[in-house]
Amino acid sequence: MAHAEAYKDPGTPEEQTRRTFMANAVIALGGVIGLGLVIPLATSLLPPADATPDQWSSLTPEEAAAFKKATDKQPVKVTFHVHETNGYLGATDTEQFVWGVKATEQQMEQERPELFKGADKVPYPVVNMGFVVFSPICPHLGCKYTWNTAQNKFLCPCHGSIYSELGKHEAGPALRGLDPLPLREFQGKVQITWIEYKFNSPQLIIQRVG
Ligand code: FES
Repeated sequence: MAHAEAYKDPGTPEEQTRRTFMANAVIALGGVIGLGLVIPLATSLLPPADATPDQWSSLTPEEAAAFKKATDKQPVKVTFHVHETNGYLGATDTEQFVWGVKATEQQMEQERPELFKGADKVPYPVVNMGFVVFSPICPHLGCKYTWNTAQNKFLCPCHGSIYSELGKHEAGPALRGLDPLPLREFQGKVQITWIEYKFNSPQLIIQRVG
């Protein structure tokens, strides 16, 4: 047989059996190596069994002291770190801020009755330690609003929504008032839970916690 045509020669039955065995062995080995890679990859995507998501982020003493600067007519911007633990990234800290407003339960109940009864009643105290804490996210489409001292209002620069000091929606396209967040004092620490509510909805619908 010409050398160029040698590859067409099927060989003897013994040679064919040996080739089939080698081919199967290579496939089997590939499968074992593949499994070896896939199993650690898959388990790395699963949260560890002992993961305990803590939805309260503690403020440092300096951050907590910032609340004291709030007066009856001057909300205060309090920066803190949202502490999250998950199976993918481990522990992460993301800088956020909230608006702290000095208020009594009675004032809030008068100005924002929807937070105390009915469908939008929040399942946590709206006022804690003499403050209400508002998410900095405008409930219209998510811009960050700011406090305007001259007007004594919270103003959103994106589409002009206006909110009272206690977060009541007064003008603009937003469909609800500012969103209060849970605040507590626990074991000597001031803590906040970061919650993101759905934009552009009259109801408080939770999108993300922590
Ligand atoms: S995002 Fe604030 S008014 Fe539109």
